Amino acid sequence: MRIRHFLTDLDLSPAELDQVLTLAATMKADPYAIKPLAGPQTAAVFFDKTSTRTRFSFAAGISALGGSPLVVNPGESQLGHKETIADTARVLDRMVSLIIWRTYAQSGLKEMAAYSSVPVINALSDDYHPCQLLADLLTVREQLGTTQGRSLAYLGDAANNMANSYLLAGVNAGMDVRIAGPQDYLPEPRIVEAARARAAQTGGSVLITSDPAEALRGAEVVATDTWISMGQEQEKEARLQLFGEYRVDAAAMAQAAPGAVVLHCLPAYRGVEISAEVLDGPQSVVWDEAENRLHAQKALMAWLLVESGLADAETERLVRAGTR
Ligand code: CP
Ligand code: NVA
Repeated sequence: MRIRHFLTDLDLSPAELDQVLTLAATMKADPYAIKPLAGPQTAAVFFDKTSTRTRFSFAAGISALGGSPLVVNPGESQLGHKETIADTARVLDRMVSLIIWRTYAQSGLKEMAAYSSVPVINALSDDYHPCQLLADLLTVREQLGTTQGRSLAYLGDAANNMANSYLLAGVNAGMDVRIAGPQDYLPEPRIVEAARARAAQTGGSVLITSDPAEALRGAEVVATDTWISMGQEQEKEARLQLFGEYRVDAAAMAQAAPGAVVLHCLPAYRGVEISAEVLDGPQSVVWDEAENRLHAQKALMAWLLVESGLADAETERLVRAGTR
């Protein structure tokens, strides 16, 4: 059986994404019923960058699945500096049941997956944040009932990991995705092409623009992210000047659909990419979104283990029932 990894948003087919999101809702309603990591089996969670939500949601989620998380902070292992990624994978997969990794280059995750006989999960890279999008899509389902045909506008740094993931995961879920940012900060053509190809299968659509009003017009979901991602701190002053037109504030929300919901992966910088009024206001669902990291990732981990042939029969039965 092929080992299933989750390195980009498109690693799940549209039908598989639907299964994982349905399972997430099932597991949210009954959090301790499915225990693929009973033993306890260990799951490795590596961080090359800092984290709050990802760290706690994976640690809590692995425990709730019956397992034991081993969280490795930046610089604490040999990974990537004293030992190759491939050699790390060859050792780890004899000891752990899952490898979860927040890192810089996407190529590192690909190398880890190529050498690992257990599922590898991208916990954020420079290119994508696919686990965040599982939580965001679960939140959209909770708020709007469905993702199919719903419109989502993302404003701000449209060349970062979150913009790429909104684009890819959004169309994978059948959404009408509009991405707005300055001319030199838009998604790369290869990402846009991949999104358009997937949209053609799902009925979703793609709009890339530098006009925030065009993206916002009637949008049912409005999303943003920090203008200064991890690793870009030295560009802070320039970036603060660049993105001002793309702030999510009351004026922006007035252009979206009445009652539109607001997403932000957090951490948020009030008064920078989003006003405090909007982040802390009635349209914001960011705290549900943050909680949903836990439920979505538990579902993802259980689903990957089952699909990789690494779960016991009872887990497989419960997971299959939970995806329907
Ligand atoms: N949204 C998110 O990934 O948060 P952390 O950086 O705190 O993990
Ligand atoms: N784009 C941000 C997301 C943080 C969760 C970053 O990469 O720092």
